[in-house]
Amino acid sequence: MAAKKAAGTAAPQLMMPWSIDIDLVDGVMREPDRVLVRRASDMKGYYKDEAALQRLIAQGDPVHYEVFEKHIPEQPGQLPLCISKLYPGRVGEECFMTKGHYHTVSGTAEIYLCIRGQGYMVLKTADSKCVAEPMKRNRMVYVPPHWAHRSVNTGAEPLISFCVYPGDAGHNYGDIATEGFPKRVFIRGGKEVIE
Ligand code: F6R
Ligand code: ZN
Repeated sequence: MAAKKAAGTAAPQLMMPWSIDIDLVDGVMREPDRVLVRRASDMKGYYKDEAALQRLIAQGDPVHYEVFEKHIPEQPGQLPLCISKLYPGRVGEECFMTKGHYHTVSGTAEIYLCIRGQGYMVLKTADSKCVAEPMKRNRMVYVPPHWAHRSVNTGAEPLISFCVYPGDAGHNYGDIATEGFPKRVFIRGGKEVIE
């Protein structure tokens, strides 16, 4: 079926159906169009122990996380998807984490299906409600509209999730960079501490 054509305008480009292989055991997307890589040096200002982060950068600037994406237009009606792969590690006592963001269109939700690893999705609202939802293989976290969200890896292997969100959601990193999250996740004496 052809896309509907408004009178006097060119027909909008019809997107063709497509498919890809995603390995749901290892959490690998076979043919990503784009891989976003964030290293320790991209995380300045996010961790509590800034000196520990500087040491990590000096010791080789390890990759914190990678996001494997298909090219899907950021438009209402589309459903962008990705594999988010957060490596294990600590900055001082704090577990490796993603930057976290609100959606630019704040009233848009997201689904995170955890495929591998263990950790938390830490979520917060603008009035500082904060929740840490456990993430582990086969656990799905629903990120409701208006909640900023960040994943945190407490384990020894990568924390991998399959994420789907509305095409017009966008990423608002600025507000979280200013506000931070009220809760952080540490490993102390071999135990998880959320405070
Ligand atoms: C999209 C989404 C994920 C994250 C990814 C990296 O809305 O939530 O795809 O973008 O897990 O985290 P950030 O974007 O916080 O660096
Ligand atoms: Zn998101």
